[in-house]
Amino acid sequence: TRVFLSQSVILWSAMQVHGFVTSYNTNEEWVARAVGDACIRLHLADEQVCRSITELFRDDFIRALQESLLWPSEACGVLVGPSCGKFDIYAPWNITLPKVPKPPVTPPTPPKPGSPQSRILFLTDIHWDQEYEAGSSADCKEPLCCRKDSGFPSWRRREAGYWGTYGKCDLPLRTVKNLLENAALAGPWDWVYWTGDIPAHNIWSQTRNQQLTELKVISRLIHKYLGPDVIVYPAIGNHESTPVNSFPPPFVHGNRSSSWLYSAMAEEWSPWLSVQALKTLRRGGFYTMEIQPGLRVVSLNMNFCSRENFWLMVNSTDPADQLQWLVTVLQASEDKGEKVHIVGHIPPGLCLSSWSWNYYHIINRYESTITGQFFGHTHLDEFQMFYDEPTMTRPLGVAFIAPSVTTYINLNPAQPSCLRLELCWYVVY
Ligand SMILES: *[C@@H]1O[C@H](CO)[C@@H](O)[C@H](O)[C@H]1NC(C)=O
Ligand SMILES: *[C@@H]1O[C@H](CO)[C@@H](O)[C@H](O)[C@H]1NC(C)=O
Ligand SMILES: *[C@@H]1O[C@H](CO)[C@@H](O)[C@H](O)[C@H]1NC(C)=O
Ligand SMILES: [Zn+2]
Ligand SMILES: [Zn+2]
Repeated sequence: TRVFLSQSVILWSAMQVHGFVTSYNTNEEWVARAVGDACIRLHLADEQVCRSITELFRDDFIRALQESLLWPSEACGVLVGPSCGKFDIYAPWNITLPKVPKPPVTPPTPPKPGSPQSRILFLTDIHWDQEYEAGSSADCKEPLCCRKDSGFPSWRRREAGYWGTYGKCDLPLRTVKNLLENAALAGPWDWVYWTGDIPAHNIWSQTRNQQLTELKVISRLIHKYLGPDVIVYPAIGNHESTPVNSFPPPFVHGNRSSSWLYSAMAEEWSPWLSVQALKTLRRGGFYTMEIQPGLRVVSLNMNFCSRENFWLMVNSTDPADQLQWLVTVLQASEDKGEKVHIVGHIPPGLCLSSWSWNYYHIINRYESTITGQFFGHTHLDEFQMFYDEPTMTRPLGVAFIAPSVTTYINLNPAQPSCLRLELCWYVVY
């Protein structure tokens, strides 16, 4: 979900206060301190949270700024918007569609009574908090409460509950287990879409090791509760990495790259995914697989569309060639008469504009092939509509956005399911 402690605001404040905007010849140490000070002075967060978050973001963020060779006013424009400076760093770009003409559209018809159905379980935004503690305070200064460090409330009704709490709180493991246990009982499921955000919202204090532990524990629990015969198709959320939202595209190599994360995912998800899928997962965090004859899934790494992924300041043109790859997959499916479901974490309507525009264009071109789109991230039960580009009056696609498993913030835990295929009968538990 959104970073409540917005990187942009912190950085912008620091630049303003310390005159960074006019003197860009400075070193990392100094900028990091400036950012931390500004965060504290502007009461953006508690002092300790300010210090740890800037420490965590420091290396990657400043490296991205340096590599992007931004002029200061452009940096400010990028971080804050056109009011603050020139804004041409996220330069527009277009994917190339094959010359094959779009097939004539036949309006979809509801399946006949008695048609075969598949039952799909849809999980998203689990956000397990390892440090959740019943009895701790559900109101605290940090961005995430109900933890060992949150203190104890003076008023009993603001205590973290046993299973979870309405508040700025994520979930204890027992609740995740209980949900999976009940999801398994509500089966059998033909397959599962799982659209990411495993770790909690303690984004100021996460380490690579913790993120990997959470990935392993939750992946194995899902495998255990749903059984070895149910295939799960995961997608990568913005919280899987640390710092949050930091997903360097493949042009970044070495220890700063995402390979620490993607290779662990490939290992954990190897019971579910094909060898070819694991290969593209390792490279860019996305993949495609045939679910059954006539139906394919594409799992997108939506962190490559996100304004909050600061690596895209270096180059935001179709990161990892993901959308061009998507076009190739869709064209091959169209040629075979295969239908495609797209799954991802951040809904396409919340992406950088060029990415969003190209995606919309793809949905238009392949409207007869794409029969479902499933996303998460907002934690709310929502959908986004797609219309035909020439008139913008004929609806031709819908992206379902599933509510979260976590209660963050002030929500009920949820877990929808979908009876496929042309029409999604969508049930939220
Ligand atoms: C992308 O395509 C649109 C319309 O097809 C065009 O107006 C625009 O100039 C193109 N942008 C680039 C960067 O090629
Ligand atoms: C790789 O980067 C991580 C996170 O910045 C750091 O903790 C680790 O020590 C680095 N490893 C090497 C070999 O540089
Ligand atoms: C950005 O990436 C695209 C696609 O990978 C590439 O064609 C382009 O040359 C890159 N731009 C810069 C300025 O490096
Ligand atoms: Zn989330
Ligand atoms: Zn998210």
